Amino acid sequence: MADIVLDGVTHSFAQPGGGQLLVLDALSLQVADRQVVAIVGPNGSGKSTLLRIVAGLLAPDAGHAAIGGLAVADADPRVGLVFQEPRLLPWRTTLDNVSFPLELAGVGAAARRRRATELLGLVGIAGFASAYPQQLSGGMRQRAAIARALAREPSVLLLDEPFSALDSLTRERFNAELLDLWQRTGTTILLVTHSISEAVFVADRVIVLSPRPGHVIADVPVPLPRPRSTDALDGAAYSSTAATIRAYLHGTPADHAAEEALAAPVHDVLDRVGTPAWFDPFRRGG
Ligand SMILES: Nc1ncnc2c1ncn2[C@@H]1O[C@H](COP(=O)(O)OP(=O)(O)OP(=O)(O)O)[C@@H](O)[C@H]1O
Ligand SMILES: [Mg+2]
Repeated sequence: MADIVLDGVTHSFAQPGGGQLLVLDALSLQVADRQVVAIVGPNGSGKSTLLRIVAGLLAPDAGHAAIGGLAVADADPRVGLVFQEPRLLPWRTTLDNVSFPLELAGVGAAARRRRATELLGLVGIAGFASAYPQQLSGGMRQRAAIARALAREPSVLLLDEPFSALDSLTRERFNAELLDLWQRTGTTILLVTHSISEAVFVADRVIVLSPRPGHVIADVPVPLPRPRSTDALDGAAYSSTAATIRAYLHGTPADHAAEEALAAPVHDVLDRVGTPAWFDPFRRGG
C-alpha cells in the first residue's frame, strides 16, 4: 500500500535578513493508494516544498508525512521525484543517467543496464540510450528524467510541473502517456501543475492551495471516467470541474461557478470566470 498521509504539515524557511517565512500552515491531505492527485496553487504557495517533504528531502517543522502508514525516511526510496527541469548529468549518457539511482543503490552493472534499457523503452526513448542530454530535445530530457525517477520502482511518483516547458500539443500527449504509464506501473501520483486542464485531465482529485502560507482550500473530485482521451477536455464534466477550480483560485463561491458552467457554453464561462495573470499557461481554445 502506498497511500500518502500528510497531517498538520507546517514549514518555515529562515529569511536572509532574519526572521522566518511561514510557507506551509498545518496542511493535511490524504491520497489513497494508486490515486492520482493534482495540486494547483499560486506561485510561492509551497507546492514544491510540500513535494520535498513527501520525498523526505525536507523535514517539516511540525506535523508528519507518511507513506503506507510509515513515516517518510530521508530521501525515501519509495518515492520517485521529477523536478520542473530534467536535472540530468551532462557528462553521462541517457542510459547512464537513468541507471544512476541504481548505481547509488549498489545494483550491479548488468542489472542496471537491463533495467535502464527497459525504462527507456517504457518512456519511448529506447533509441537514445547512448545520446548525451545536450543531444536530446527538451521533451526527451523530461522523458529521461521520468525514467530515472522510476528506476527504483517507487510506489509514489511526485511530479513538480514536469511538462511546463513543453509546447501544448506535446504536453497533451505527455499527459495521455503519463496516464498510460500510471496504469502500467500502478504508482500513487502527486502532480503539481499550473495548468487546470492538465490537472483535470490527469487526476482523480484536484487540490487547490491557498496563497502562502499554503493550506488546502478545496479538494475537487474529477468525475471523468477512465481510461481518458483528450476528447474528455471538450465535455461538460470537464468544463464545470475546470470552472470550479478556477473559482476557488479566485476566491469566488464555487457552487455558483459550477452551475453557470453547466448552463453556458464552455468558453463563455471560462471568459467570465477569467484566469488570474499568474495562472494557466495551458488554456485551451480562444
Ligand atoms: N530553501 C529555501 N530557503 C528559503 N526559502 C525558500 C526555500 N525554498 C522555498 N523557499 C520559499 O518558500 C516559498 C514557497 O516556495 P515553493 O518553491 O514551495 O513554492 P511553489 O508553490 O512551488 O511556487 P512555484 O509555483 O513558483 O513553483 C517561496 O516564497 C520561496 O521563496
Ligand atoms: Mg514550485
